[in-house]
Amino acid sequence: MKINVLEALQNSGEEYVSGEQLSEHLGVSRTMIWKIINQLKKEGYEIESSSRKGYRLKAQNECLTQASLSLLFKDKPWLDQVLYRETVDSTNLEAKRMALVSEVDRILIVADEQQTGRGRLGRNWHSAKGEGLWMSLLIRPDIEPETSFRLTLIAAVSVSQAIEKVTGLTAGIKWPNDLIVNDKKICGILSEMSAEWQKVNYVVLGIGINVNQREFPEDIKDKASSLGLESHEQVNKLELLYACIESYMYFEQGLYNSERLKELLKIYREKSVTLGKTVR
Ligand code: BTN
Repeated sequence: MKINVLEALQNSGEEYVSGEQLSEHLGVSRTMIWKIINQLKKEGYEIESSSRKGYRLKAQNECLTQASLSLLFKDKPWLDQVLYRETVDSTNLEAKRMALVSEVDRILIVADEQQTGRGRLGRNWHSAKGEGLWMSLLIRPDIEPETSFRLTLIAAVSVSQAIEKVTGLTAGIKWPNDLIVNDKKICGILSEMSAEWQKVNYVVLGIGINVNQREFPEDIKDKASSLGLESHEQVNKLELLYACIESYMYFEQGLYNSERLKELLKIYREKSVTLGKTVR
C-alpha cells in the first residue's frame, strides 16, 4: 500500500492530491492514508500537507527506501525480489545468506550503509551512510564456472554505461573491475561465486559506487573520488541504480548470445584504461 500512495503522489507531481481522493482510489480509509503518509515522512520523504488541499511530494523522490525501490522496478520483470536494508554488515554477505534460504533467480539487495563493506583481496570497503550505492545482485545463471568471469565484465561495462548516461562522465575500466573517473576510483566490484565442478550454483555481484561523498578518509583521498565531486552535481541514486540494472539486463545476454558478447567485449576494450598499457 505504501508503494501505491508513493506512486499516486509521484504521478500528481506539483499538484496536491487529497486524502479523500487517495482513500477512494486505493480503497482504504483516510486514517490509513494519514498513517502511511506519516511513515513515508519518517523514511525521509518531504511531503507537504494542507488540510484543505491534501498532500504533495515536495522534492522529486531521491530517497532509497523499500517503497522507492519496489516502485522503481514495479513494471519490469527483471528482478524477482528487491530488498532494501538501512544498515547491513555487507550486501554481499546478505546476498549469500539469501542464496541459502531462497531459490529465486535474481535478487537485488541495496543498503544505505554497510558496517563491514568488503573489497577485493580481503580489503575493507568504506561504505558510509547515504553516500553511495552499495548493492549486490544475486543471480543463478545457467553457465559453467569457466564462463563466470564474463559476469565481472558485464557488471563493469553496465555500471560504466550507467554512469555515463546519468552524469555524462566517462568512466574507464581498470582491469579487472575498477571504474575510474579522472584517474580516481569511483566504483569497485566484488564478484563471488558458489559452484560445483561443472555448474554454477549462484553468483553475487557486489557493486559499490561512490555517489555523493564530499570528502574521503586520509588514506584513500588521493586515489578515490565520487560522482558528485567529479560532476559537481548531486547525483540521484535511484536514477543511477535503474540505469545500472537496465544496462546489466541487456549485457547479461552476453552469457548466452555470441553477438551480445561481441558487443560487450568491444565496449570493454574501448573503455579499458589498462589494455595496451604497461601495468605494475
Ligand atoms: C573492490 O574494489 O575492492 C571491490 C569493492 C566492492 C564493494 C561493494 S559495496 C557492495 C558490495 N558489498 C560489499 O561488501 N562489497 C561490495
